[in-house]
Amino acid sequence: MRLNFHLNGAATVLEVAEDRRLVDLLREDLGLTGAKEGCGEGGCGACAVLVDGVARLSCLLLAAQIEGRSVLTVEGLGTPEAPHPLQAALLARGAIQCGYCTPGMVISGLALLEENPQPSHAEIRAGLSGNLCRCTGYQAIVEAVAAAAETLRETGR
Ligand code: FES
Ligand code: FES
Repeated sequence: MRLNFHLNGAATVLEVAEDRRLVDLLREDLGLTGAKEGCGEGGCGACAVLVDGVARLSCLLLAAQIEGRSVLTVEGLGTPEAPHPLQAALLARGAIQCGYCTPGMVISGLALLEENPQPSHAEIRAGLSGNLCRCTGYQAIVEAVAAAAETLRETGR
């Protein structure tokens, strides 16, 4: 199929099999390796991206399902020089160890903060419950999301 969609703000046209998984399309066809494949079956959250502003698992989405939609991956957020406040907060709190879960955490964290700009720690844990991290023990991640929420409220971003 000829797939038309927006990727990180840019209109994108691609010839692709309609049953190509979004995670493969991003990582292998487009070289955007931020979204990670962990389980490949919807259980770990490492492959999360935003589709029309909603956190979705790219291992479970097919190319045909993103026709006409807007996809945001972690590459569309900050840069190493100018990280998004949530990325900066994760770095500042040492909430990243191996980093495999981090892009998915960022995406799910953003989706959560969009819905609830002032979440409690319990709400953050619930919001990130679909994202597994085998390294950090989660506490630093929760604190980073809470800190980013505060920054975003203060800066109006
Ligand atoms: S790789 Fe998609 S949820 Fe685990
Ligand atoms: S930092 Fe290693 S899985 Fe989360």
